[in-house]
Amino acid sequence: MRVVAVISPKGGVGKTTVTANLAAALARFGPRVTVLDLDPQNALRLHFGMAHDEAVGIAQQFSVTDRWSDLLYESAYGVDFLPYGSVDETQRNKFEQGIKDQPDWLKAHLLSLQLPENSIVLIDTPPGPSLYLQQVLKFANIGLVVLKPDAASYSTIPSIESLIHYYCDGRKDFFGYCYVLNQMDAAKQLSRDVYGMLRSSLGSKFIPTTIHRDEAVSEALACQTPVSYYAQHCSATHDVNEVSAWLQKNFGLID
Ligand SMILES: Nc1ncnc2c1ncn2[C@@H]1O[C@H](COP(=O)(O)OP(=O)(O)OP(=O)(O)O)[C@@H](O)[C@H]1O
Ligand SMILES: [Mg+2]
Repeated sequence: MRVVAVISPKGGVGKTTVTANLAAALARFGPRVTVLDLDPQNALRLHFGMAHDEAVGIAQQFSVTDRWSDLLYESAYGVDFLPYGSVDETQRNKFEQGIKDQPDWLKAHLLSLQLPENSIVLIDTPPGPSLYLQQVLKFANIGLVVLKPDAASYSTIPSIESLIHYYCDGRKDFFGYCYVLNQMDAAKQLSRDVYGMLRSSLGSKFIPTTIHRDEAVSEALACQTPVSYYAQHCSATHDVNEVSAWLQKNFGLID
């Protein structure tokens, strides 16, 4: 099992969208791909066709002995997913307290799924520091930081770097981290400038293929499918395929 943490210092950059679309792209290479939603917004499931009013998810469980295997949904896109679930404030507080009390909560649950050795798990997280991010960074093998081509994203890079170093430095099973630029608009000078600055300052950690801003991405979400199934030849599908090939080449994600 290879675990990829999809993270960002800032909200709304496209973590959930990238997680869903990348998972569908990686699944086409053959390995078993599972996505886990660790964000109380509970939005990842919508990319895989789960009904809006379906409430089930991991946040409805409070004990480490509860089984995630019962919550694993099989999508029509070669990707299995574990939704966060729809919970009220009382349930969420209880769930989060349970996580705080169990430092290895995520690791224990993922290992209990007994996924094949060559399988890939992508984990969507809320923006910035959180107890979810702590659990993920203590266990993930790879960090994928999603950025937007704007000044706010650029200025928050030091904060996410310091979190990654805090939790991952010295861990033998941490292969490394990288950055992907999402919602690139090459017609905008600012986007091109931020791209250039990121490329020169992040060096080999920056994935040279960006994911372009593409209407098909939002339309695919409205149809509750990954973009590669919605529009096979659009620019975002092409970009996501390139990003998955880059991850494969640089981190050997697929055997
Ligand atoms: N490449 C893209 N092209 C067009 N629209 C995009 C693209 N990527 C994301 N979006 C849109 O941007 C919005 C935010 O995306 P998303 O919800 O994935 O961000 P997020 O980082 O997960 O947000 P949060 O921090 O709130 O969890 C959504 O409406 C999504 O459809
Ligand atoms: Mg999100």
